[in-house]
Amino acid sequence: MKITCIGAGYVGGPTMAVIASNCPEIEVTVADINPLRIAEWNDDTLENLPVFEPGLAEVVAETRGRNLFFTTDVRRAIEQADIIFLSVNTPTKTYGVGKHMAADLKFVELCARQIAEYATSDKIVVEKSTLPVRTAQSIKTILCNNASGVNFQVLSNPEFLAEGTAIQDLMHPDRVLIGGDQTPEGLAAIEVLTSVYAHWVPRERILQTNVWSSELSKLTANAFLAQRISSINAISALCEQTGANVEEISKAIGHDSRIGPKFLKASVGFGGSCFQKDILNLVYLCRQFNLPEVADYWEQVIRMNDYQKHRFSKLIIDSLFNTVSGKKIAFLGWAFKKDTNDTRESAAIYVANELLVDKAEVHVYDPKVKKEQIYADLDYLQKHHRGAMGEADVLTSEEIRQLVIVHESPYEAMGQAHAIAVLTEWDAFKELDWKRVYEGMLKPAFVFDGRNLLCAKEMNAMGFEYKAIGRG
Ligand code: NAD
Ligand code: UGA
Repeated sequence: MKITCIGAGYVGGPTMAVIASNCPEIEVTVADINPLRIAEWNDDTLENLPVFEPGLAEVVAETRGRNLFFTTDVRRAIEQADIIFLSVNTPTKTYGVGKHMAADLKFVELCARQIAEYATSDKIVVEKSTLPVRTAQSIKTILCNNASGVNFQVLSNPEFLAEGTAIQDLMHPDRVLIGGDQTPEGLAAIEVLTSVYAHWVPRERILQTNVWSSELSKLTANAFLAQRISSINAISALCEQTGANVEEISKAIGHDSRIGPKFLKASVGFGGSCFQKDILNLVYLCRQFNLPEVADYWEQVIRMNDYQKHRFSKLIIDSLFNTVSGKKIAFLGWAFKKDTNDTRESAAIYVANELLVDKAEVHVYDPKVKKEQIYADLDYLQKHHRGAMGEADVLTSEEIRQLVIVHESPYEAMGQAHAIAVLTEWDAFKELDWKRVYEGMLKPAFVFDGRNLLCAKEMNAMGFEYKAIGRG
């Protein structure tokens, strides 16, 4: 059997590496139109893989060149495959109909057209990307109207991995979900894909549904997870006003087995490429199906998240005597969570932008994020959110590069700073020599902990003005 995956990103790369590792007799090819990305996946040293994930380099080392291949030759990869995974990006549209809400399906559509054009034998096409419910119908329509004499089955097999724990999640998934047509051909295709996962996933964890349930389950799972974060973040605002401690509340409610302890960590706001995108997509779908009450219900999860990011920047500005103009604010972390180099929709970008608009100097240290990425993130935010910020708030690329300084060392970033903001919960930040940090800062030395990472008692004892999300 030969498997091809179109899209060598955060999902395609790790997922295919894990399939190749568990199914040595299957040849797995990952194809991408981005030659730089493919070159990085093929990098001999394994030090420049485009995705940083604990354990990933080891799996790639084991499989690459054996039964895992990375290529830019999309055509050949399509021709030779029995199963083709679509794992391309599906970002929120930034133009036209559905701007800032709907998923942009142009990459998925292009893949379907390429498959229709190049396929010379029957294929199972698997939606791995997160897609609006009923997208499989569009893919089928494109495939069937453009290919001659070739049969296609379209399955939905959404991915539930979280970044930072991708390898662990893929090796030991809570469940694998496969949706397909409830016809003899559809059921047979479901079985083929099930047999791939059954190499390492217990059969009772492989759930089979119809296509629409599978597509909608993915959006629903992300909406529920994000909703929990917005719920605890809403309570964190109340904690700050009342002297309650949000960490204690999370623990107290998490002990209720019906609520459970996971995803109750109050923070500066959720980031990542998917929660916001997928909920906006869900909201858009609800409006399209004329369900405004349902749309409003889910939209509130995003509003609460925006409020949380804004609340954090405002806390910094208010505490620093109502202006950060000319002040040095050190950012610990830029990635949207620890153990990843991914910065998409990271809260750090939004918080930095608000401080920059108030003319702060932002000094960033992140152990895995590259300088160019940080500038690109801020440029992107300026370009795509300009309307909402008003004319006076516009920053040019040059201004961004003058006001944002990226450091190789955390101590350098924090030296002579007026304040520190913890944006990502990297474990290493707990181990810093905080006494040394205190000595090197301007006084009063403020620390704004957006992740509840540090110990309030210890920080106060050292002399810091320490303020954390959800702690009065
Ligand atoms: P990504 O941007 O990291 O990777 C997508 C890749 O697809 C890019 O390398 C791009 O060059 C390539 N591509 C686009 N069009 C192509 C084409 N026509 N031919 C060949 N290559 C093409 O995206 P990602 O984070 O891997 O996400 C992919 C999908 O998986 C999205 O729908 C996302 O919602 C979903 N998802 C992501 C995660 C996650 O943790 N990142 C988790 C679950 C699901
Ligand atoms: C999330 C889901 O957890 C995955 O199941 C899903 O496959 C993926 O989205 C996707 O569809 O892309 P991911 O975004 O990689 O995974 O990471 P999470 O661990 O879910 O964290 C998302 C954001 O929420 C991060 O910014 C994190 O810091 C924040 N978070 C998470 C909190 O603020 N509090 C929490 O308790 C948990």
